Amino acid sequence: MSKTIAVIRGDGIGPEIMDAALRVLDTLKLGFQYDFVEAGLAALEKSGELLPHATLDAIAKHKVALKSPLTTPVGEGFSSINVVLRKHFDLYANVRPAISFPNTRSRFPESVDLITVRENTEGAYIGEGQYVSDDGATATLTQKITRRGSERIVRYAFELARRCGRKKVSVVHKANILKSTSGLFLKVAREVAAEYPDIACNELIVDNCCMQLVMRPEQFDVIVTTNLFGDIISDLCAGLVGGLGLAPGANIGTDVAIFEAVHGSAPDIAGKGIANPCALLLGTAQMLDYVELPDEAARLRKAIRDTLTARDRTTPDLDGTGSTQAFADAIISRL
Ligand code: NAI
Ligand code: MG
Repeated sequence: MSKTIAVIRGDGIGPEIMDAALRVLDTLKLGFQYDFVEAGLAALEKSGELLPHATLDAIAKHKVALKSPLTTPVGEGFSSINVVLRKHFDLYANVRPAISFPNTRSRFPESVDLITVRENTEGAYIGEGQYVSDDGATATLTQKITRRGSERIVRYAFELARRCGRKKVSVVHKANILKSTSGLFLKVAREVAAEYPDIACNELIVDNCCMQLVMRPEQFDVIVTTNLFGDIISDLCAGLVGGLGLAPGANIGTDVAIFEAVHGSAPDIAGKGIANPCALLLGTAQMLDYVELPDEAARLRKAIRDTLTARDRTTPDLDGTGSTQAFADAIISRL
């Protein structure tokens, strides 16, 4: 098999963790070729553009991209590259697994095994219709939810549950207050859920869901929700399993998919060689599932888990003394 993927090495700790991830991927000998393209600060410095056309073309051509975090410069006129990528390729499903690993700073070292499926293209999060009145006294924003957007994300969640042998989908909303938008999402979710009698479905109001996640995370399996709620809930879930260094994410559309770590470019530790590569490696495992190499994905996840169990060369965020590359070597030695 030969498959070319677009690779964005990113900013800050991005190149460090990407080097580690590609070394691990190469060890699996799956015949992947890499088309290195740029985005973020690295691209801005080189070509004057945050997201060059060549990068969009490469992602469109290869259809699969592995992406390190990007620094979005603070200031007027810079929109988040991630938001632009999601919009450009209509990457409507943001899939974020949160699974307990041993020897992390998690309060739940065993009981968390859930996937958040976040709608990625609509709702308050995309900042549509943002407007501040001339006197600066009033700010408004349009929140639009569509039947199409709701239906495809809920269907994605139920299909994912079926494919992964999961038993329950929790629909998270605020339809009691946001009767139009969250109400439409919930209505459509109920219709779709009726088509999946083999998968249990429950409904939770988002604030209660947050409390339940912290009290009894083991009751959750698959969570499906709208964009802004999903943004917050998925970081809460990353915290449940020990932090951003262990939280991967996939952005999936009908044609293109981009795999990444949830965390940012971590400028505070960039260049020190101590970033945890696991989030991007778990994103790489999601990519292997996506390209229908589930056995290899499982092999990679097991090597990560075994390395954490042995506390072999783990990074400082896990209270270890290892470097990014030494941690990667420890994982490679278990593949
Ligand atoms: P951040 O996620 O980069 O860092 C938050 C904290 O977590 C820092 O203390 C950092 O050292 C730590 N951390 C993050 N990843 C880690 C890892 N792999 N190993 C060990 N520790 C890790 O968030 P922050 O500081 O808010 O954002 C920094 C930059 O990243 C900003 O320019 C932001 O726009 C960008 N960003 C990019 C994202 C992306 O491209 N997907 C996502 C989030 C932020
Ligand atoms: Mg976020």
